[in-house]
Amino acid sequence: MTGLTEAADPLHGLSQDAVRDHAAQALTRARSRSTTLTDAVDDNDLVRQHSKLMSPLVWDLAHIGSQEELWLVRDVGGLEPMRPELDDLYDAFQHKRADRPSLPLLGPAEARAYVGQVRAKAFDVLERVPLEGRRLTETAFAFGMITQHEQQHDETMLATHQLRRGEPVLHAPAAPGRRTGKLPAEVLVPAGPFVMGTSVEPWALDNERPAHEVHVAAFHIDTTPVTNGAYLEFLESGGYEQRRWWSDAGWTYRTAHQITAPRFWRREPGGWWRTRFGVDEPVPADQPVVHVSFYEAEAYAAWAGKRLPTEAEWEKAARFDPAGGQSRRYPWGNEDPTPEHANLGQRHLSPAAAGAYPAGASPLGVHQLIGDVWEWTSSDFGGYPGFVAFPYREYSEVFFGPEYKVLRGGSFGTDAAAIRGTFRNWDYPIRRQIFAGFRCARDGAPDAAETR
Ligand SMILES: [Fe+2]
Repeated sequence: MTGLTEAADPLHGLSQDAVRDHAAQALTRARSRSTTLTDAVDDNDLVRQHSKLMSPLVWDLAHIGSQEELWLVRDVGGLEPMRPELDDLYDAFQHKRADRPSLPLLGPAEARAYVGQVRAKAFDVLERVPLEGRRLTETAFAFGMITQHEQQHDETMLATHQLRRGEPVLHAPAAPGRRTGKLPAEVLVPAGPFVMGTSVEPWALDNERPAHEVHVAAFHIDTTPVTNGAYLEFLESGGYEQRRWWSDAGWTYRTAHQITAPRFWRREPGGWWRTRFGVDEPVPADQPVVHVSFYEAEAYAAWAGKRLPTEAEWEKAARFDPAGGQSRRYPWGNEDPTPEHANLGQRHLSPAAAGAYPAGASPLGVHQLIGDVWEWTSSDFGGYPGFVAFPYREYSEVFFGPEYKVLRGGSFGTDAAAIRGTFRNWDYPIRRQIFAGFRCARDGAPDAAETR
């Protein structure tokens, strides 16, 4: 018995009606965001492919509806298929992103009508289906899964907006500046076990489960994500040209693609500029760097005399409260994120300055683990001990393996419904169009005191 615990289920004790309300609100918020992202451009822009890396926006929209129909209307609701001919078109496993524009996709008006019809049926199902007795409907899990799916595609659509050329069409207030005094560069996380993953978070996905104890040796972790200013020192000191900072795979990639700076950056006579959702601006030194690949993150860390954190280190820094031995839902505690805690949900269209969210810091004093930028870790994506695929292998399990690296914490483009201390994202180490940055870690002294 170590006395380590996991925070309690936040929906525990709520009536079925309260859970239904919670699910309906989450679905409605997701739809409002999908509508913002698709109404921001004209029909021509909706059907166009803005980058080979991305689907046309209208594909994402109808795919959101198709998955919702599959799980909520047909599986949970037991209703007949509405448009069986759509199943193949919007099956992400059947068609690569690059091929999607040539499919006979629904047009913008049809896609909007389809997702609206699906949503009306899904709400009918949510009204009548018992939220118990079946794992898929327990605590409205399927509705939570579909909410997260829509929010994840909204973040993908936001990345498509970033790749789109042309005048700015999305608008939001500027992200906050620093709201702390000078922060220490690093925080020491003492050696010892903690509870990783979850067995109680009701809408956690299969890859976050089950909760299990992991022993982590003492390590130092950067207090905030690496900023543009710090990254520029690496760049200006020739970091991209010096083979020694790069892994073999990283150097091959960097050389083959002639990578010399984060994506969307360019050198001007007076300094570095970036393009952000159609706006040209000087690169802000105090914000976390974003649009870097795993390989660039790894090279920076080597240059800085550090390394990337493992996934377990990241989660311990984000969740572990040494005072009580509890693994919290979030760094700041167990309550859902508010605008004071973290830069989430596309409320701002960039990361916020390092030190902008003192209320979101962990008990040990690590800042901005949630929101701003996804953080690359050194870990491959895999199942936890006792992993069971649910509700289908294609959600996570088919991606397990060394070709994907785990990212943690969510970005300014991630909604609160789709992030928590246990949430795991994964992607190829070459990806740069996602809203990814990183922070560094290094080993602690081998004799650093155990916490328990
Ligand atoms: Fe999807």
